[in-house]
This record gives sequence, structure tokens and C-alpha cells, in this order.
Amino acid sequence: MRAVVLVGGFGTRLRPLTLSAPKQMLPVNGITMLERVITNLARGGVTEAVLALGYLPEVFQENFPSGEIAGVKMHYAVEPEPLDTGGAIGFAARFAGFTDDTFIALNGDVINDLDIAALVEQHRAFGGEGTIHLTPVEDPSRFGVVPIDDRGRVEAFIEKPPAGEAPSNWINAGTYVLEPSVLDRMPEGEKVSIERAVFPDMVADGKLFAVQADGYWVDAGTPESYMKVALDLVNGTRSSEPAVAADATIEDGATVENSIVGSGAVIEAGASVIGSMIQRGARVGAGAKIVDSIVGPNALIGPAAELSELTVVGDSVVVEASSSHSGAKLPDVPKE
Ligand code: GDD
Ligand code: MG
Repeated sequence: MRAVVLVGGFGTRLRPLTLSAPKQMLPVNGITMLERVITNLARGGVTEAVLALGYLPEVFQENFPSGEIAGVKMHYAVEPEPLDTGGAIGFAARFAGFTDDTFIALNGDVINDLDIAALVEQHRAFGGEGTIHLTPVEDPSRFGVVPIDDRGRVEAFIEKPPAGEAPSNWINAGTYVLEPSVLDRMPEGEKVSIERAVFPDMVADGKLFAVQADGYWVDAGTPESYMKVALDLVNGTRSSEPAVAADATIEDGATVENSIVGSGAVIEAGASVIGSMIQRGARVGAGAKIVDSIVGPNALIGPAAELSELTVVGDSVVVEASSSHSGAKLPDVPKE
């Protein structure tokens, strides 16, 4: 099976971390989001994949020069300009030559344990042009809402409905099985949204189906969900991976609780790190207090500084000693 992985978005909600790396190249407990996604695809029978690249494409190519991730042969399709989700899938599928057989398309910022092989089987049983994986969420307004009939046929595709107006709590979980005929709905070089144009057209033709499956699922696109997806790997919610890299240093008298400390990072004496992510090469100065916050790679947190409430510190940023930040982005970034 072959797959198109969408990784070209700007990652706006994760700035400043995404000023230096695209969202899918951010680490999730030491392994990039992309590698975690590709590993699950490989488990489901995918052997070849194309990345639909737009923003900072060279970062992907430089990090995976072998052209292989988790045993999956990779292609890199760089869009001349952002083509939106549907245009990007069409561009990348044509680039890689995935035009003659059923293929998978997915949002590269979704972390899940979905059984891809089972989804493909269900798609074949429906016999439609496309099959979407659905997951239940509490607030569907940030997602594509997808009501289905009792045979699995999609009745409507409503992208980001106003709060309180969604007809269902089951949302588009971002993984699709598509027939190559769907490419005809994505004309070459045209900007088109799969959620706002392609799927609604397929619904009108009665050719779109969906499967409800409520296993582990997180869209890691916001600081809050990005933090959750990482901490869930170390706190037993999803697995119990080691939370502190083998070559990180925790000095005597420092406290680290429910947190991730990346490769080469240093937590100095008397510092406390609680519910937080300290990325590779960062240093937390003596007596500093980091609560529910993300410290980006190689950042320096001055002694006795305090970070709380999802403060996000960018790559190599220096935070002044004894300064205090709550819910801040350092450096500050313009709102979306
Ligand atoms: N190549 C390319 N070009 N990729 C893009 C572009 C583009 O122009 N625009 C977005 N992407 C990529 C992003 O990098 C991401 O992997 C994926 O497409 C989805 O974009 P997001 O910006 O993360 O969308 P979202 O999270 O608001 O909503 C989408 O995902 C939800 C599930 O997580 C939609 O598909 C919703 O319907 C869905 O519920
Ligand atoms: Mg997303």
C-alpha cells in the first residue's frame, strides 16, 4: 500500500517552535512526529510514501537523506505554492506516481494507533471512492464533522462548524483511503481543500464512506495537544517510554515530575520541572521553575526564572534570570 502524508502546513499554532522546524519535525519524546506517523503506517502495510511538502521542505530532506523512514521508501514532493489539502494530495500523488491504485492520504500531525490495514479492508467492503476514519471528540468545532447513516455512508462533511451547531461528535480523524479516481476531483496545479470541496462533492455523489473507531487519537497541532501526545508516552496513558534521555543531566537537588527531558539537556540544582517538555540541548538554570510549559531546543532558561501555563520558548532563545512568564510565547509571535 502507498500513502500521501500532508506535512506542508505552517504550524502557526505551534509558533515559535515551528519558526525553525515544521510541525511534523518536532520531537515527541525524542522521536519526530513524522517518524511516529510513518512507523504506524508501516505497521499497517504501507511500503512507500510521499511527503506533500510546502513549508521548510529542506528540513525533511536533510533529516532523512537515506530516503527511508521505518523501512518505508520515501518521496519528497515540494509544492510550488501552498495548494491546500486537496491540491497538495493531488500534486504529491502525481509526483510519486500513485495514480493507478488505491492509496492512503493522511494529515501528518495526527498521532494515533489506527489499524490502517483494517481501514483498507472496510473501504473495499463499502466499494466507494473514499473512506474516512472518524474519532469522537468533546468539542467538534475545531474539526471536520462527519455524520453517517447506518450503513457507513457519509451524509455531510462540515468543516469547522460554529460551536454548538455540529450534528455529531464524530469528526474527521485525518486518515483516508482513496481510489485514484478522486484525483480527477483535484485538478493539476489548482488550490483545493479536501475538507471544503472534494469531500462535500463526493458526499453529493454518494461515494464517500466512513468508519468510526475510537482508539488513541490526538491532533498534535496546538501547544496543549502537542504536550499531551508527548507526556502520554511516558506517563502510562499510551505507553511508559523513558522520559529522560540517557545523556541528559539532572543535577542534585533538581526536581523533575511528569516531564520529558531531551538529549543533552541540563536541569541545574534546585530547579523544578513539572508537567513540561525540555527539548534537546536546553538548559534550565539553578532554581528555575518550569510548570506546564515547553522549552525548545538549545534554549537557556536563566536562574530562578519561572515559566507556567503553556509558555512556549523557541529554539535557542535565552530567558532572562528571575523573569516570570505565564501563557507566553518567547519570542512573542503574532496571533494567527
Ligand atoms: N502540503 C501541504 N500544503 N500541506 C498542507 C497544506 C498545504 O497547503 N495545508 C495544510 N497542510 C497539512 C498540515 O501540515 C497538516 O498535516 C494537514 O495538512 C492538516 O492541516 P491542519 O492545519 O493541521 O488542519 P486542522 O488540524 O485544522 O484540520 C484538519 O485535521 C482535522 C483532524 O486533525 C482537517 O482535516 C479536519 O477536517 C480534521 O478534523
Ligand atoms: Mg491539525
